[in-house]
Amino acid sequence: MTARSILITGASSGIGRAVAVEYAGQGVRLVLVGRDAARLEATAARCRDKGATVEIAQVDVRDRLAMRDAVLDADRRAPLDLVVANAGINTGLPQGALVEDPEPVRGIFAINLLGVLNTVEPIIEPMCARGAGVIALTGSIAGVRGLPYSPSYCATKAAVHLYAESLRGPLARKGVAVSLIVPGFVHTPLNENLVAFKPLAMTDVRAAKIIRSGLDRRKPMIVFPRLLYWASRLSTVLPIRFVDWFLMRQPVDVPVTQERMQP
Ligand SMILES: NC(=O)c1ccc[n+]([C@@H]2O[C@H](COP(=O)([O-])OP(=O)(O)OC[C@H]3O[C@@H](n4cnc5c(N)ncnc54)[C@H](OP(=O)(O)O)[C@@H]3O)[C@@H](O)[C@H]2O)c1
Repeated sequence: MTARSILITGASSGIGRAVAVEYAGQGVRLVLVGRDAARLEATAARCRDKGATVEIAQVDVRDRLAMRDAVLDADRRAPLDLVVANAGINTGLPQGALVEDPEPVRGIFAINLLGVLNTVEPIIEPMCARGAGVIALTGSIAGVRGLPYSPSYCATKAAVHLYAESLRGPLARKGVAVSLIVPGFVHTPLNENLVAFKPLAMTDVRAAKIIRSGLDRRKPMIVFPRLLYWASRLSTVLPIRFVDWFLMRQPVDVPVTQERMQP
């Protein structure tokens, strides 16, 4: 069954924007969350062109109280049947460095992990009280096995994976589905400055179609591309020193984010 009242964080760009446009249509109400007003408005215009009713919530996911108000206000106006905690950033370890700059590390945890909690926590009780709804969280294939180029990004995504897994059982008993979205490489601004071999990279439009198809079926995990996901899973059972050696030989450069803990 497809969702009709949907809140998406990170809807001003990339995967979140593509998912919003994918769902947009007559009878669909979208609440688009992000920080950049112009880019949110651009997403909204594309969704309205497809017949959707669109509301914009210009909120930083690091702001717990503002997120609680945004989610609960949206839910009070029209009960949400899908919430997608998708906003996220990337950061990396500069080549030759042994430790990531602590400030960007706090920033990525604040957005990728606390931002997800700030999005999901307020909607759990309302959805459970209704006995209906889907909560989706965007993880990453980078959350399956630690990568030497982006320790904190991998850690935030692994945490999101385990959080989603842990929520799933209790919420399923209340009629609420939890879907963990696990993308590989998707062409978006998040990774346009990432220097790396990007096997099986796909467009955000393609990713959004896969995500919607999985969410409509309330799938517990939506992984794509599957080959990269299973290769990553395989790496977790191969000899650790061999995998470390292999990963260290890859020419990868992940830019350091400008984001910090506080908005
Ligand atoms: N692209 C990939 O290859 C890939 C692979 C695996 C997983 N992912 C995950 O997919 C999700 C979306 O990434 P993307 O590739 O679509 O990146 P993107 O194009 O850079 O979009 C990121 C979105 O997150 C929002 N955002 C960032 N910080 C925020 C904050 N503090 N508060 C509110 N919104 C914030 C941005 O909106 P504003 O700038 O308006 O705030 C933007 O809409 C992320 O969780 C990412 O980790 C991406």
